[in-house]
Amino acid sequence: GTRDTDDCVHSFIAIKPDGVQRGLIGPIISRFENRGFKLVGIKLVSPSKKHLEEHYADLAEKSFFQGLIAYMGSGPVCAMIWEGRDAVKTGRSILGATNPLASAPGTIRGDFALDVGRNVCHGSDTVDNAKKEIALWFEETEIQSWKPAAFDWVY
Ligand code: TYD
Repeated sequence: GTRDTDDCVHSFIAIKPDGVQRGLIGPIISRFENRGFKLVGIKLVSPSKKHLEEHYADLAEKSFFQGLIAYMGSGPVCAMIWEGRDAVKTGRSILGATNPLASAPGTIRGDFALDVGRNVCHGSDTVDNAKKEIALWFEETEIQSWKPAAFDWVY
């Protein structure tokens, strides 16, 4: 197989405060690693209200917006950048549907969550949004470029 294709992209994936508090950083990272994705950025952050309002700017008019911002600011968030084939679309499928009641078993939300307001993880929904979110959450110097030999067996 070949790994240097046009669809090799970055996605912004975050483990929300409930996921961090519940000890799900390891299991969530494992799912992305096992699938063949490569971790190129990771940090624990306590995002400010302003930062979260920018991250969720598209949802400002929604009734759940204030609650969402409070939840996302309630504890550390594990912010990550994952690289690989169709990482945005495939990342969303690894996460599962937004509302865990509709998330298939085998997805992160389908295995670990029940409440849309405590749905454990975030993943960019488009390649454009992934670029914006990565720029919002990470400095250029915090993103690594590396080629693990084991990936020769994935693609
Ligand atoms: P959204 O961007 O629609 O979903 P996703 O996270 O899958 O891209 O919504 C952002 C977050 O807002 C979602 O992960 C959980 C929260 N949320 C609610 O609390 N209530 C709701 O009714 C919806 C649609 C989302």
